[in-house]
Amino acid sequence: MFESLPESKPDAILQLMETFRADTRTNKIDLGVGVYKDANGQTPVLTSVKKAEKILLDTQDTKAYVGPVGSRPFCAAMITQVFGAQAQTDRIRCAQSNGGTGALRILADLIKASKPNSAIWVSDPTWPNHIPVFKAAGIEMKTYPYYDADNCSVDFDAMMSTLKQANDGDVVLLHGCCHNPTGADLSIEQWGDVADMCAKKSLFPFFDLAYQGFGDGLEQDAASVRLFASKLPELVVAASCSKNLGLYRERTGAAMILAENNTNADKALGQLSVVIRSNYSMPPDHGANTTNLVLTDDALNKEWRDELEEMRLRMLRLRTAFAEGMRQRTNSDKFDYIAGQKGMFSRLPLNTQQIATLRDDNGIYLVGDGRINVAGLPEEGMDALVEAIASVL
Ligand SMILES: Cc1ncc(COP(=O)(O)O)c(C=O)c1O
Repeated sequence: MFESLPESKPDAILQLMETFRADTRTNKIDLGVGVYKDANGQTPVLTSVKKAEKILLDTQDTKAYVGPVGSRPFCAAMITQVFGAQAQTDRIRCAQSNGGTGALRILADLIKASKPNSAIWVSDPTWPNHIPVFKAAGIEMKTYPYYDADNCSVDFDAMMSTLKQANDGDVVLLHGCCHNPTGADLSIEQWGDVADMCAKKSLFPFFDLAYQGFGDGLEQDAASVRLFASKLPELVVAASCSKNLGLYRERTGAAMILAENNTNADKALGQLSVVIRSNYSMPPDHGANTTNLVLTDDALNKEWRDELEEMRLRMLRLRTAFAEGMRQRTNSDKFDYIAGQKGMFSRLPLNTQQIATLRDDNGIYLVGDGRINVAGLPEEGMDALVEAIASVL
């Protein structure tokens, strides 16, 4: 049966995780895997989440099926979080999903069912898993230039001039905030220009919002989506609760649809339910129910917002300390950009050989394209890290 299958290529980041685990050096540093880490190198369960889980455990009185679109209160809370408390919700629909990835996949299937001949444009570079997800949905993929590696910033002119060549009706995947892997985001003015171009060319915006609250703040990080929602008739959002609630393994996310009118919104959600039912039938409950409590209980919500803000500010402090260390050690401003970028990732301008040397000689692990997880930067050992990186330059 299976002998004809080709050998599958292991996921590069997951493989890096395995190699790191097997490394017995005590001073090793993991800058690879995309999970938040605190000052002790731990990815803790947030206190607000623990409290919500306890309430859930004490009060839940059924494990009956939740239905394909999942928990309605969770969906309502996620719509408010992403589109804002003032949003007109009559054209918005939401289905609970298996994390952000699950939302990406079911929305991709929805697009394939609605517009089978549209291509999807993704940024170059993008989160590597975008590519297999959209390929699996049978959508043609194209790339638009995004990052200017020489200047470590967004190449906005190249992005716009490429997207201008897209066919009317094509889909554009946009990282709503905290671009993965570059940490380089658009300004609000640039978001406005992209929205205007999408409106002019009838391009369909598909937002991936996996890091809301990790960039400039919970509300600020949704500004891109909200601006598009104010200018365009339709869009979709794949939101993840993995990072901002630390719910990674609970697989909690939301697939959201803004449609041209109420009728189309219902049709789209109906089709999304069909996609879900034929795939995994219904989403898991625990993470979404926990999230709903954290988002809707005043005390838990305040506690969570404080915890989220602490994570965000810690990453900003680490960015500043690293950039400052590199400035002093290299006597140049080459790494200053790290301090100004957003979210959990940035890219270091290192080649494959330099990355391998850091791993083999210093036990410093980063992804092959130079991506670092800023939350993994060591507060205590920053000098040693800066020294090691500077020594391979
Ligand atoms: C850009 C981006 N989108 C989506 C996801 C999916 O997150 P999850 O499926 O774990 O919720 C990730 C996770 O790393 C990501 O970086």
